[in-house]
Amino acid sequence: MYYSDEIIEEVRSANDIVDVISPYVKLAKKGASYFGLCPFHNEKSGSFSVSQSKQMYYCFGCGAGGNVFTFLMEYEKMSFVESISYLANRAGITLPEVELTEEEKRRKNLKNQLYEVNKEAAKFFHYQLNTKPGEIGKKYFEKRGLSEETQTRFGLGYSNIDGTVLYRYLKNKGYDDNVLKESGLIIMNERGAYDRFRDRVMFPIMDINSKVIGFGGRIIGDGEPKYLNSPETILFDKGRNLYGLNFAKSSRQPNIIICEGYMDVIALHQAGFTQAVAALGTAFTAAHAMLLKRYTNNILMTFDSDGAGVKAALRAIPIMKSAGLSVKAIDMRPYKDPDEFIKALGPEEFQKRIDSAVNSFMYKIDKLSLEYDLNDPAEKTKFINEAAKELTEFEEEIERNNYVEAVAQKFGIDCESLKRLVNRYGNAMEIVQTGESQKRIQDSSQVKEDGVVKSQQILLTLLCNEPQLFGIISKYISPEDFVDDIYNKVAVTVYEQLKDTGNIVPGQIMNMFENEEEHKKVASLFSNDIREGTSVKEKEKILNETILNVKKNSLAFRNKNYSALTGEEKQKFIADKMNLQKIHVTLN
Ligand code: UTP
Ligand code: MN
Repeated sequence: MYYSDEIIEEVRSANDIVDVISPYVKLAKKGASYFGLCPFHNEKSGSFSVSQSKQMYYCFGCGAGGNVFTFLMEYEKMSFVESISYLANRAGITLPEVELTEEEKRRKNLKNQLYEVNKEAAKFFHYQLNTKPGEIGKKYFEKRGLSEETQTRFGLGYSNIDGTVLYRYLKNKGYDDNVLKESGLIIMNERGAYDRFRDRVMFPIMDINSKVIGFGGRIIGDGEPKYLNSPETILFDKGRNLYGLNFAKSSRQPNIIICEGYMDVIALHQAGFTQAVAALGTAFTAAHAMLLKRYTNNILMTFDSDGAGVKAALRAIPIMKSAGLSVKAIDMRPYKDPDEFIKALGPEEFQKRIDSAVNSFMYKIDKLSLEYDLNDPAEKTKFINEAAKELTEFEEEIERNNYVEAVAQKFGIDCESLKRLVNRYGNAMEIVQTGESQKRIQDSSQVKEDGVVKSQQILLTLLCNEPQLFGIISKYISPEDFVDDIYNKVAVTVYEQLKDTGNIVPGQIMNMFENEEEHKKVASLFSNDIREGTSVKEKEKILNETILNVKKNSLAFRNKNYSALTGEEKQKFIADKMNLQKIHVTLN
């Protein structure tokens, strides 16, 4: 049994899409819509739009789109039924009991089993530390200065050199090969089943609820890869989890420290900095930033001091700032990472570095300055120009001037000249940026479709954005004229809603579509816009051409299937054909 359309609609309309998406994406209001960084692809400027009036989201960059249900299905990997129950709960609506479909039962069951398998494996690895074969792991952790207590707290362990013990152990516990394969812990091929992790010290990765979702395994000594990690599974999404956050979230510190590695997090916690987390060998994402934002607004970065660490930090800064986080960078030189720093100088010194952490902008400029020889006048001029470009990121004058002054002072630049330079670049950037975003919107509407389908799309888009055109358009075009399957389905409902209420609810119409491709296609329909500033004359021309195209195509389609038409339809066909020349729309 499924939920009725009425219930689904009740749940949908009780959950405002802006509220539902806000915890995941930092949204800022721009015109009639909200914009932010798309959570479905990596980008630097926000192409992801959320419309409150339409109750839909749409990304102009990657085409992802849909309503509240689609968002949760795609972001949280929920099934449709899970998304309904989540949103009903959120809105305080009691749902009638339903039975899960077989597929849903299987998924839910699989998820639960994967949690169990991970937990069993973590216990098994940990237990191994106190066995004879595991001695080497125990010694390794001791050598790295981890106390017994720390090892237990983080559930550290050892994976046996014998490549099948874990497999046999889990098999004995009654788990299916299928489940074990899905867990990523066991590799299966023609030759049999093997443990992924062998002779490594093990770091269980936990989600914010302290449930084990994956593992990292470090080689003991040298070798490649240094760290081996679980593959992504239905539990483990690297871009959306932070190692140590399950502890850091209750650290009661005014900030969260983000570093690069497992050992850094553990060393920091052991030294009393229990607010440390790491993004584990994957690029920092907007989802990471939003996850952090749930707990704090203040981030301290301690990425490695080497080239790769600086690069990673410079990439992460704009992502965190877009999420509205305030970011400072901790300098650990001459040490490579927090683990080495603490081992060498101890927690008090680290605290001093925290206290003298510089704001991320100054960090960025510092790193930039290293690329130039500031004693050479020509090089220094180049540096000043680059720094001025960076300074244009501050839109507010007072803030911008504060930074201009700080940079000027630090590098011995005349403050007023720097200010003028920044303003000059600022004006130039503005022009470039608006040009770019306009192009983006045009590109995304240039969906590679043939003109015929395109005309149907334009006409529907016009109808959705300007319902007052319904009277004019419906005089010439009926839903049957939309011969593309999906557009036809949309048109039927759009016509019904416009006739009944004079208004349409895109978020509701989205419910009629199931798969991702359809959602994208329909969402783009509701999100593309006839460019603002189009004059009435131009609009009139577009409207006439489009109506004519849709009609012509509809006639061609019926002509091809003429024999299949009913008597009534044949008459309509002939009438339409005769009236084709008479199509003329005027807007006043
Ligand atoms: P590092 O190479 O900086 O290692 O990688 P580390 O954290 O200092 O490790 P130790 O101190 O030598 O033990 C930083 C992080 O990048 C990921 C791991 O999460 C690691 O902690 N990484 C690194 C991998 O996933 N695979 C690798 O092969 C290397
Ligand atoms: Mn290290």
